[in-house]
Amino acid sequence: MSLSFTVNGETRTVEAAAGTSLLDVLRNHLGLVGTRFGCGLEQCGSCMVLVDGEPVHACSRDVSTLAGRTVTTIEGLSSDGKRQPLQQAFLDEQAGQCGYCLSGILISAKALLDRNPRPSRADIVAALDRHLCRCGAHQRILRAVERAAAVMRGEAG
Ligand code: FES
Ligand code: FES
Repeated sequence: MSLSFTVNGETRTVEAAAGTSLLDVLRNHLGLVGTRFGCGLEQCGSCMVLVDGEPVHACSRDVSTLAGRTVTTIEGLSSDGKRQPLQQAFLDEQAGQCGYCLSGILISAKALLDRNPRPSRADIVAALDRHLCRCGAHQRILRAVERAAAVMRGEAG
């Protein structure tokens, strides 16, 4: 099966067997290894990507459903090598420990801030409730999203 879809602003055409997951295609066909495999069961969120702007588990999404659609991975969050405020906030808050969960969390956080520039703590918790952090960095992650939102609103440096 051959199909084309947009990944991080570029049209990509891939050959993949029926039933191949989007995660498999991203990592093993396109070399975009920032999206991580954790459980393969929609339980951990480490594989999250945006499909037409909405967070989707790439581990369980059949790539055949993506023809003509737009996918954004962690590699597509920044352009020209410049960090976005969300990425900088995670660094500033030292939100990562091992970092394995963070690409998925950053994707869900981006989707949240795109639709809600002033999220409450409860909004952030709800937006990230499909993610596990095995290192227990949850409080720092929540603070990082709050910090990014404030920076993006021009209320913090
Ligand atoms: S690898 Fe997809 S949710 Fe865990
Ligand atoms: S920082 Fe290690 S799993 Fe979240």
